[in-house]
Amino acid sequence: MDRELQHDVVILGAGLAGLRAAVEISRRLAGRVDIGIVSKVQLMRAHSVCAEGGTAAVLRTDLGDSHELHSWDTVKGSDFLADQDVVRRFVETAPTEIRQLDHWGCPWTRDDDGYISQRPFGGHSYPRATLAADKTGFFEMQTLYDQLQRYRTFTRYDELFVTDILVHDGAFAGLLGLHMGSGETVAIRGKALLIASGGGGTLYGFTTYSQTVTGDGMAMAYRAGLPLEDMEFLQFHPTGLVPSGILMTEACRGEGGYLRNSRGERFMEQTAPKLMELAPRDMVSRAETKEILAGRGFKTPDGQDYLQLDLTHLGADRINTRLPLIREVTIKFLGLDPIDTPIPIRPVAHYSMGGIETDINGLTRVAGIWAAGEAACVSLHGANRLGSNSTAECLVWGGIAGGEIASALDGMGAAAALPADAVTAAEDRMRQVMARRGDENLYQLRHDLRATMDAHAGVFRHGADLAAALGHVREIRDRAQRAPVLDRSRVYNSNLVHALELENLLDLAEVTVAGALAREESRGAHARRDFPARDDEHWLRHTMAFHAADGPRFDHKPVTIDMWLPVERRY
Ligand code: FUM
Repeated sequence: MDRELQHDVVILGAGLAGLRAAVEISRRLAGRVDIGIVSKVQLMRAHSVCAEGGTAAVLRTDLGDSHELHSWDTVKGSDFLADQDVVRRFVETAPTEIRQLDHWGCPWTRDDDGYISQRPFGGHSYPRATLAADKTGFFEMQTLYDQLQRYRTFTRYDELFVTDILVHDGAFAGLLGLHMGSGETVAIRGKALLIASGGGGTLYGFTTYSQTVTGDGMAMAYRAGLPLEDMEFLQFHPTGLVPSGILMTEACRGEGGYLRNSRGERFMEQTAPKLMELAPRDMVSRAETKEILAGRGFKTPDGQDYLQLDLTHLGADRINTRLPLIREVTIKFLGLDPIDTPIPIRPVAHYSMGGIETDINGLTRVAGIWAAGEAACVSLHGANRLGSNSTAECLVWGGIAGGEIASALDGMGAAAALPADAVTAAEDRMRQVMARRGDENLYQLRHDLRATMDAHAGVFRHGADLAAALGHVREIRDRAQRAPVLDRSRVYNSNLVHALELENLLDLAEVTVAGALAREESRGAHARRDFPARDDEHWLRHTMAFHAADGPRFDHKPVTIDMWLPVERRY
């Protein structure tokens, strides 16, 4: 190792969950704590800045919203796979997070009467998506980072690509990484680690994720022995811009936008006559896919399928004030003004419902390691997340995990020494990656992986396709051994980072596909054509995937159901 660093707490990931945790730890232990915030990108480029439409919270009990309603919406939306104690804690904590951000200066959009604005989102029975125009994540991130400046508690490590999470004797033992700017290898020791490094949606080619979101934290945790939970549940957002996949926020429909097929019909009438375009995402994405398969979609000149998101009846004023980013993006990317022209969209990979298993406090099975945000699976979203519940989750469990870490820190001994064997193994792995020879191209392999996931593990799935996909993923992993890292330089070796990212994506793809193949039912975002019904008798349980030499080993754990028994979901 070129450099060894040490902090009391290491936060891996600088998005909403990571920053919220850093603020919480800092305000509880100001002057007595030393935090390292590690990010593979520059801090303000964390993918959370891309969150658009809103953050769910019950603010208007005076107008009829309630914790019970938000809890029920979330449990029903999850197709009853959410842990209900977790849902209650979430719903009860989210309003405080919104008000706290308000006190910290978040420029929430306001109604004429001065109240913080909220808009409708899919599957919510009350308009509770709290908004800052359609740039909610950006403003939340700015507010948290601004707040963090009050404390002299943290050191930023931007563009530091972490390669290994070390666990020794069942406890956190450090991180190893590569500093892009200098090319130095770095070890970071600490008493506590928070993994808040986001999801893994760039497993798919057509995705809303930034290209930097490659599931690194989840994959490293998995290899370090932490189980991944419910990874087969990958959310497809109904409105990805065609052809780029850029998110066309659900707020477009929350503000009154329609979805239309090539006959001009609002096809959601067949699936969800009451909620229409504001049904939960799993249902809208399935309805769209059916329209396309039935030949009622449109085609781009190069043959891509799409449907239309129609905002033309909303008027310029509403679009300019409530959806300015959407207008800016469609004009910039397509030369299309949504004030007078419908937007081409189709379902797009958007969110990992699964992740690193944690308890209700964000603690993993490994002493000293917590996880929060999309990297984690606290079991809030079950089989299908409701829109606007994820930024809220990042704030809530960033705060909870931060508080837990702050409380635990005093009782923890000194940071563990780096385990020499694990460091040697990690260094060997890096040498092996750099020593690869052969005629494979890792960018072609990444493309093949994404094409496989798009084609075989999408909105609808079938056992035969999933089995084929699993074979492809394993074959791509073998071929990757013959894909050389052509850039031999130390400084900014993005070629090396891409090779390591591909390994992370391959691990996550294997877990996702094998888990989807094993789950012989349809629930939430996991729709099996060969098992079209939900099967509560056998599958009302969480999937746990453990890393093993020959592929994931699966186990299961029960769902906490202490309020509502499963019923059929109708909207
Ligand atoms: O559509 C959106 O603005 C996305 C929100 C979310 O995923 O929660």
